[in-house]
Amino acid sequence: MRLGVNIDHIATLREARKTTEPDPIKGALIARDSGADQITFHLREDRRHIQDDDVKKLKSVITEIPLNMEMAATEEMLEIATSIKPDRVTLVPEKRDEITTEGGLNVISMSSFLKSYIKELKDSGISVATFVDPVEEQIKASLEVGADAVELHTGEYANAKTESQRKTELFRIKKGAVYGRSLGLDVFAGHGLTYLNVKPVAAIEEIEELNIGHSIIANSIFWGLEEAVRKMKKLILEARGLV
Ligand code: PXP
Repeated sequence: MRLGVNIDHIATLREARKTTEPDPIKGALIARDSGADQITFHLREDRRHIQDDDVKKLKSVITEIPLNMEMAATEEMLEIATSIKPDRVTLVPEKRDEITTEGGLNVISMSSFLKSYIKELKDSGISVATFVDPVEEQIKASLEVGADAVELHTGEYANAKTESQRKTELFRIKKGAVYGRSLGLDVFAGHGLTYLNVKPVAAIEEIEELNIGHSIIANSIFWGLEEAVRKMKKLILEARGLV
């Protein structure tokens, strides 16, 4: 199982003062050296955290592990992605006033647009994932529009208020993962995962990769980024019986 570390919130802190620190590129290098298997970042249309210049720098320094660019399916982002060429693009829904990515992409409702959009990305050698709720119809639609993978949105699981709700959501993720694999898609997961809730999701064997940001960056304030990445990696490997 791979851990993708999302470095957006290092840039969030920098942008709070519009200064140069903390530097998300330095964060990406520390995460890489501390066991991250991938660096994930979200270039938002409003540029609230990661900036265009960060993307260029990430591409030039992160060469040993893959770069996963989360983005909305817009013309502007298509141009940036096809010129930067990250290893993967993860298509996410984006609303200007949301605090974070709320809910998965509605692949069904934009399927004909996504088909040609994804083709352009794949034609430039970029692998494509859709960030979807663990719902069979959205997973199937992702295959039909040409995605290589789905990243299952774990937000409902992370936000569950009761143990039974949490179990229900975990089961939905498991079912979605099994279904995605049965279609031949690669299956990833992420959103809202923390040191306390990651293990049951990491134990789902059909899921190959988790993308985790906020909890790692938040705890790096107290532990340092190196330790924060190492601890998360250890938890997910433990959940898989790999350490
Ligand atoms: N995966 C996707 C597709 C996301 O949009 C996000 C948030 O940017 C994450 C993973 C990471 O979520 P979190 O910051 O809650 O760990």
